[in-house]
Amino acid sequence: MEETFSETFEAALEKSRKLEADLIQNPAKYKILTGDRPTGRLHIGHLFGSLQNRVRLQNLGVPTRIVIADYQVLTDHDSFENIAQYIQQLTIDYIAAGLDPENDRTFIFPHSHVPELNQLLLPFLTLVTMSELDRNPTVKEEIQAAGLSRINAGMYTYPVHQAADILFCKGTVVPVGKDQLPHLEITRQIARRFNERYAAKQSVFPEPQPLLSKAPMIKGLDGGQKMSKSRNNAIMLCHTEDETAKLIKKAKTDGERVITYDPVNRPEVANLLMLISLCTGEEPQAIADSIGEGGGGMLKNRLTEALNEYLRPHRAKRAELEQNPEYIQQVLRKGIAKAREEASATLEEVRQVMNMVI
Ligand code: TRP
Repeated sequence: MEETFSETFEAALEKSRKLEADLIQNPAKYKILTGDRPTGRLHIGHLFGSLQNRVRLQNLGVPTRIVIADYQVLTDHDSFENIAQYIQQLTIDYIAAGLDPENDRTFIFPHSHVPELNQLLLPFLTLVTMSELDRNPTVKEEIQAAGLSRINAGMYTYPVHQAADILFCKGTVVPVGKDQLPHLEITRQIARRFNERYAAKQSVFPEPQPLLSKAPMIKGLDGGQKMSKSRNNAIMLCHTEDETAKLIKKAKTDGERVITYDPVNRPEVANLLMLISLCTGEEPQAIADSIGEGGGGMLKNRLTEALNEYLRPHRAKRAELEQNPEYIQQVLRKGIAKAREEASATLEEVRQVMNMVI
């Protein structure tokens, strides 16, 4: 039953490319399930890194489910008083970015409201070993990063819960970042083992495939580390244009006057050029050439203008949605109802193959 997380990143990328090509040809053949933990507000790294990719896939015609993993917040966060607010904010940014809960192919729901999904966790827990849970590299990193001295069992088992998030609707494609690959591998093993052990090799569950985003990793305005709210180096989607301008003014650059695109030797400048490029579609190299002697000041002005212009529709839409909490609630209620429908059907099937129908 034991397997290691042995697949190389390159192999995953290659498979992802093939999957992407087939998705474009046959969108209706697939079902996308992905999601986020409601741990805070979203920044532009989320928008460029994952939200836009989801919207693109949705618009290809792939049925799309977005899970808000509120239970998972409890695995490494002490406080939970803001969860409702973060669920609300996530939903606002999803819709502002273009996920469309009105299209009948897309729905958004917090998993705490879908009891039939959560119930899948019980049989799934019998399909993984303690040592497999203990070896998950992403879980290990999270434990380290959170500096936890007492680790709750939810921390070790949330990847199994995540399998329930994906399999309740028989999701087949999971757009995720590299850090989620070990979790996807567990989901695939659970699907395979469930079919083998409990379903006499019938295919109750598909083995979902990860889809790695092509977006580059976006670094924070300090130029060193990944953009993240907790590192205080992020431009949030909810920031105003003035706040955005102020943050960019303080962004780190380097001592060289002339702007060049050199990601290895000038990572801070390269990151700012990359951000402009994501907004305007021009190549970073061409942007650097056009700024040249203009230096860091001009680079920052260009970025401020490009980003504020690019984010204007998103920010306008999110401001409008902020005024309408009833609508957000209605979107989530509808998402929950649809998720429960799919989860109930799956749970019924699971009970049948497991001889638990009475
Ligand atoms: N664990 C994911 C994260 O931390 C969030 C998540 C929960 C998720 N359930 C999921 C992602 C299902 C993809 C599919 O980002």
